[in-house]
Amino acid sequence: MNILAIESSCDETAVAIVRDGRQVLTDCIASQVDLHRIYGGVVPEIASRMHIEAIYGLADQALAQTGLTRSDLDAVAVTYAPGLIGAVLVGVNFAKAAALALDKPLIPVHHIRGHIAANYLAYPQLEPPFLCLVVSGGHTMIVDVRDYTDMQILGTTLDDAAGECFDKVGRVLGMPYPGGAAVDKAAQQGQSGKYDLPRSKPGANPYDMSFSGLKTASLNLIHHARQVGEDLDIPSLCASFTQAVSDTLVPRVVQALAQTGRKRLAAAGGVAANSRIRGDILKTAEALGVTVYLPPLKLCGDNAAMIGAQAYYEYLAGNVADMGLNAYATKSILGEAI
Ligand code: KG4
Ligand code: ZN
Repeated sequence: MNILAIESSCDETAVAIVRDGRQVLTDCIASQVDLHRIYGGVVPEIASRMHIEAIYGLADQALAQTGLTRSDLDAVAVTYAPGLIGAVLVGVNFAKAAALALDKPLIPVHHIRGHIAANYLAYPQLEPPFLCLVVSGGHTMIVDVRDYTDMQILGTTLDDAAGECFDKVGRVLGMPYPGGAAVDKAAQQGQSGKYDLPRSKPGANPYDMSFSGLKTASLNLIHHARQVGEDLDIPSLCASFTQAVSDTLVPRVVQALAQTGRKRLAAAGGVAANSRIRGDILKTAEALGVTVYLPPLKLCGDNAAMIGAQAYYEYLAGNVADMGLNAYATKSILGEAI
């Protein structure tokens, strides 16, 4: 089954064609990052306009690259939530028009389910059940993937997402947007024990997380050093910050592995590209005899191939939409309104 997949929830316009949920025939991305960098973050109105400009050409490019014709496509899938509403709407409207014109099923895909499914592309042998640590720019959660479309959220951040904090720290340090990759690079030259930063333990659920205290403490430390004219060891600050994020994530994952008895652990989302976090997950989980699945860096960030992968399993579960499909800025991974 050849699925044309569309992703436009943030600042990447992406179109892919994925066969049977596992085989990427083509994965086209038009990134807007350079444009938003001027403003230090994504400007939603600019993002929506750029998606409109890019999406038709990308879909044509996807077909041309595979040598397929429109009649070789069996379904159209699209990220319908969550994301910047204007941006998601561009993809949803394009997908609806394409499905109508091709007379093929329309498959709505939750963006975070797509991130999890990136692992199916990287690891053909991976099948649920497994545990997944989702760490992106907008979400941070530990998900028990019981089946392809049956998931349980064990814990989530109660405030900021991990990626949001990476971006904020990077921005205050004058690093280019999005800051995560630059903080990661700087941290590799620093000492993670140099600055004492908090690890919060919020609420009654041991799997819930909080990053806003860490973000505030990091920003206060930077501002204070500047005010008193103290030299900041930026690589060590980045390393200490990254270690605090990792120390918030990894022990919760370990506890969740113990509680669920899962023997497979995957990671998903842009922050799963972080070298320290990847290293800590690998070291810790493998010591427990757990098999670890870390998507290659290209599949950690936003792309449409992951949407095409999840779409196949949504289709098999009967999750198709009609022309009434809407876009949503927020929606839980379980499909509930939040
Ligand atoms: O999953 P993603 O591409 O988009 C969302 O769905 O949010 O994640 C983007 C986030 C950004 O916050 C970015 O700074 C972060 O992933 N990121 C990283 C790294 N590469 C990207 N964070 C830490 N270390 C990295 N190497
Ligand atoms: Zn994403």
